[in-house]
Formats: sequence, C-alpha cells, structure tokens
Amino acid sequence: MKTIRDFQRMKIEKEKISMLTCYDYWSACIIDNSDIDAVLVGDSASMVMHGYESTVFADLNMMCYHIKAVSRGIKNKFIIGDMPFLTNRKEPGFLIDAVDRFMKAGAHAVKIEGADGNLEIIDFLVKSGVPVMGHLGLTPQSVNQLGGYRVQGRDEASSKKILDDALRLQGAGCFSLVLEMVPSALAKVITETILIPTIGIGGGAGTDGQILVLHDMLGMNKNFNPKFVRKYMNGYDDILQALNHYNKDVKEGDFPGKGESH
Ligand code: KIV
Repeated sequence: MKTIRDFQRMKIEKEKISMLTCYDYWSACIIDNSDIDAVLVGDSASMVMHGYESTVFADLNMMCYHIKAVSRGIKNKFIIGDMPFLTNRKEPGFLIDAVDRFMKAGAHAVKIEGADGNLEIIDFLVKSGVPVMGHLGLTPQSVNQLGGYRVQGRDEASSKKILDDALRLQGAGCFSLVLEMVPSALAKVITETILIPTIGIGGGAGTDGQILVLHDMLGMNKNFNPKFVRKYMNGYDDILQALNHYNKDVKEGDFPGKGESH
C-alpha cells in the first residue's frame, strides 16, 4: 500500500499520483486490484450514492457507513475520508471524535475543505498522528456561499488567496492538497511553489496527481458532462443494455438455460 511518504516521493520524482473516489464494497474490490494509487471516500457520496443536491447533506453516519464498506473491499490502498459539512466548525471535541470514528472505520487520513479557521485544528490533528489532506479552489461544501459550481481563482486577488492558503495548509501540516476547478496556470504555480503533492480535479495537467469521481469517469450519469471529466466507459448505456437484455431473456424464456439450471 502506498502511504503519504510514497506520495511525497512521487512528487519529488515527478511520478503522477492517481486517485478516485470510492463509496462501496463492490467497487472497492475492483479498485483494490487496480493500479490506482489511493481512494477518497468523498462526501460526494451524498450526491452520487444518495441523490442529494449537494455535499451539504453528507453527515458523519453516512460517511462512516461508506468508509466501512470501502475498507472491507480495499486492503492495499490508502483510504482518505472526507470530513462532512461543518464537522470541523463545531467544538474541537466533536471533530476529534469524528476523526476517531473515521480512522476506526478504516480511513488512513482525512480531508478537510478550506483553510480559513481550519489551520489550528489541522495542526492539532497532524500532531496527533492523523494525516490531513487539504482542499482549495472550488470547495463544494461552500457551494451556497460561492454561488454555484464555478471555476475559482480567476482574478488576481482570488488566485493570490488560493496560493496563500495552499502555503498555510502546507504550514499546518497537510500531506497533500486537492485543487478543484482552478485555472491550469494557477494549479501549476501552486504545484511548483508548495512542497506537498497537489491533486487536481478540473485544474489541468500541471498538478502532481489527479482525482475523479468514480461514477463520472465510468460514465454512469448521462447528463453530467463537465469539461474536466473524461469518460472511460459508457457505464449508463452499458448497464441499461445489460438490464434490458436480461429482461428480454426472461420474458422470452431464454434465461435460465439448461446450463444455468440445477
Ligand atoms: O467529495 C469528493 O468527491 C471530493 C473530490 C471531488 C475531490 O471532494
């Protein structure tokens, strides 16, 4: 299993880091046998797996449920658990208990969105033995504050703020940093400025690694086609075809055949 030391080495050796989200046992089993470097049990689970309209609806119980399922399927990959909305804004004891639950559920690290107001607690977690991944740019838990899912850091002031925040998160001890929906040029500058690996999503090719939502790259949602997603299969169409094929075989008495019967 690759660890945070490997991710650091990979940055230095310019070996790209590949990450995907993962939310359940069966996909975890497949990813475990793949070459993917690490998985994030993202709070995007609330949208992808539960149909909520944003990640604001993820909570601790939901995240622990998914981390447990993933860790039953993944034996050889680093698992990062996403701290749900506002968990890190409650009293520190609440976050510490939440992190404890995450780690005992099978996470090896946690991800916390944003820098403002989080540095002290990140420092505390890191000094307590918990690897923390930062997340800047489009931080989806703040979608209502940001006014939608849009590219961040387009102007000088906001791009400077993201770079400054990246340095602050590095200073607080983050082992890695997700850069979501930022201009490629900014992602590259941050990657070249900070010493910890950057993992991009919608941030161009200049980051140290990439992450995608598993269901996006498998093409499971026909109506979700953002610029930054590459679909490696048409999961929606392939599954629909398989379902209808099965239905047809059942209706026509073609399934089960002799070889499929006792
Ligand atoms: O929850 C998630 O899927 C994420 C990734 C997009 C980085 O935070």
